[in-house]
Amino acid sequence: MCGIIGFVGNPGSDQLRRILIGGLERMEYRGYDSAGMAWLEEDGCIRVVKTQGKVADLDRALNGIPVKGCVGIAHTRWATHGPPSDINAHPHTDQPNRMAQIALVHNGIIDNASVLRERLRQEGREFVSETDTEVLAVLIGKFLEHGDDLVTAIQRTHALVKGAYAIVVLLKRGTGQLVAACHGSPLVVGVGEGCTFVASDRLAFVGTAKKTLFLEDDEMVILTADSYDHRTLANQQVERELVELRISLDAIAKGGQKHFMLKEILEQPTVITNTLTGRVIDGPEPRVHLGGLRTKIEIGGRSMTIGDFLQNHLERVVITACGTSWHAGLIGERMLEALLGLPVKVVYASEFITGFTPINNRTLVITISQSGETKDTIEAARKAKRQGAIVWNISNVVGSTLSRVADSGVYLHVGPEIGVASTKAFTAQIVALALFTLKLVELRNPAWVTDTRRQEIANALLALPAQMERVVADAKHARDIAFQFACRSRWLCRCFKYLAQSRTPRSVSWLMRLIGASNALYLGRGYNFHAALEGALKLKEISYVHADGYAAGEMKHGSIALIDKRMPVVVIVPEKGEDEETYARVISNIEEVAARKGRVILIASEGDSNPEELRCGGKVERILWIPKTLAMLTPVLASIHLQLLAYHIAEMRGCPIDQPRNLAKSVTVE
Ligand code: G6P
Repeated sequence: MCGIIGFVGNPGSDQLRRILIGGLERMEYRGYDSAGMAWLEEDGCIRVVKTQGKVADLDRALNGIPVKGCVGIAHTRWATHGPPSDINAHPHTDQPNRMAQIALVHNGIIDNASVLRERLRQEGREFVSETDTEVLAVLIGKFLEHGDDLVTAIQRTHALVKGAYAIVVLLKRGTGQLVAACHGSPLVVGVGEGCTFVASDRLAFVGTAKKTLFLEDDEMVILTADSYDHRTLANQQVERELVELRISLDAIAKGGQKHFMLKEILEQPTVITNTLTGRVIDGPEPRVHLGGLRTKIEIGGRSMTIGDFLQNHLERVVITACGTSWHAGLIGERMLEALLGLPVKVVYASEFITGFTPINNRTLVITISQSGETKDTIEAARKAKRQGAIVWNISNVVGSTLSRVADSGVYLHVGPEIGVASTKAFTAQIVALALFTLKLVELRNPAWVTDTRRQEIANALLALPAQMERVVADAKHARDIAFQFACRSRWLCRCFKYLAQSRTPRSVSWLMRLIGASNALYLGRGYNFHAALEGALKLKEISYVHADGYAAGEMKHGSIALIDKRMPVVVIVPEKGEDEETYARVISNIEEVAARKGRVILIASEGDSNPEELRCGGKVERILWIPKTLAMLTPVLASIHLQLLAYHIAEMRGCPIDQPRNLAKSVTVE
């Protein structure tokens, strides 16, 4: 939610604009409804340019304006207080135009903004926007007028506001300095040669900054081109080491694909290897290595490792997350219950923070978050810790807030995920949960899991990269099927164009036959029920087609009423050999859909499944195949087809795939 950046250096002419726009572009996944920039002009006055729209619109708005200087701030917005507009865009100032003493960018929400605004209005101060942010700017300006320096003005403002913020403040006639502070929203410092940055995400300065450090809550930093002064908001000096920034420019490029989402789907076979590497030690008795289990914790005054805790003290698991990560959590719940017999509960983080989930010091709370910055999940982790639980975090971004709040955890290592719809992080989260489950089996040794079973799971995990490669190689089939969903008459032209480009004339007849889908159902049982939820979410998020995921057996209790000849129904079929009963039940569900003329598309496992039986006498329109794996890992392979299906449908509908309307990748507000 909102990306902010500040830069201090000695860039050549016009470089400031390039640096700030480049940083915003890389953080656009955080919000993209308006953008703005402020810098110091030669006379020391603050110049602000801002506009409703994307970063590219801001860049256009800057054409013809000389952006010269050594210090600047910029912002890309996801609206909370006040709709997207030029006025509500950041930066905000304490006073209009050249009177401004400061300009400020903000990520977060000020909960008591309306009370403070009213108070300031009564003192005669004016506001031009509807944002909570302007209250911060006006307050800081007021303290400056009273003679405070900028650092003190920020500290006094901090004492008055309630809520969450990360801010970067530019001071009129400032001497090549920026001041940034945070409370409840992320902020990270970057240090390069002769320049410093502060931003919501390290991606903003990859390629220029070499070293980085995360600010903790209630800390601030004063940046100059070649130094940074790091202190708490209570003015205590902080000594924290910079760490090397190890993200390559390639990792944040589209790699020749049209969209980040497609790049991220297609690279799954490669990056999943990073999640697995060094973690499954093959052998007659496979072992799982998770370094985080060596972390020391205190339980009831006793010191132990998390590994000891899991082995000897753990009684209950609670998994909490949001969105796609929550779906991964549901899959984890099933694995842990099936293999360990542990009671597991999965709770949306937003519900966890307000509801009552019984927790004590024998509970493990697993937080799952690609970004590690989702506010609800962070607050859930904090609440769990307050209640005495041990928190194990699964996230992708090294050093993220959640990884610092949690006791310990595991990183996915799948590289930056930039497309707003999560893809590779989801499959890696399932793999991380499978590794964790297997480790728990090793530690707790439940009687019903034989060595052979453990070996099977380890082998199945190690086989995944090659199997995912095969699914990716089959990608064109998902594109064919996408026509069924996407083509409504007003998109016909676009579809034909797309067909011509994709050279799949066979699909033209499909297109004609299947025009009209605007809803879809996704069905599955067991692990595949959760894959169905995720498949439906992907479609909704990026193509704006309404879709519901259902437990296949539950369909007859409601959603069956929706099925007619225009309703595509995607069914994820389990492999027959592992669970013949469930397989037979799913076949019955397919028959039920087909009997009502629903348009059935299957994702099915090779292996024991009988293609003729699956086609239900020709009533099934298409089958997308996945290699045979264990039921618990089927969602990893099925998801690639589901992601591609959603991607191609959105692409044909002309949707902005990497930046779907109203969404943001990192939701840093509750
Ligand atoms: C947002 C994104 C989703 C994501 C969810 C949780 O809603 O649009 O794609 O699944 O946040 O994000 P996290 O980073 O915590 O996994």
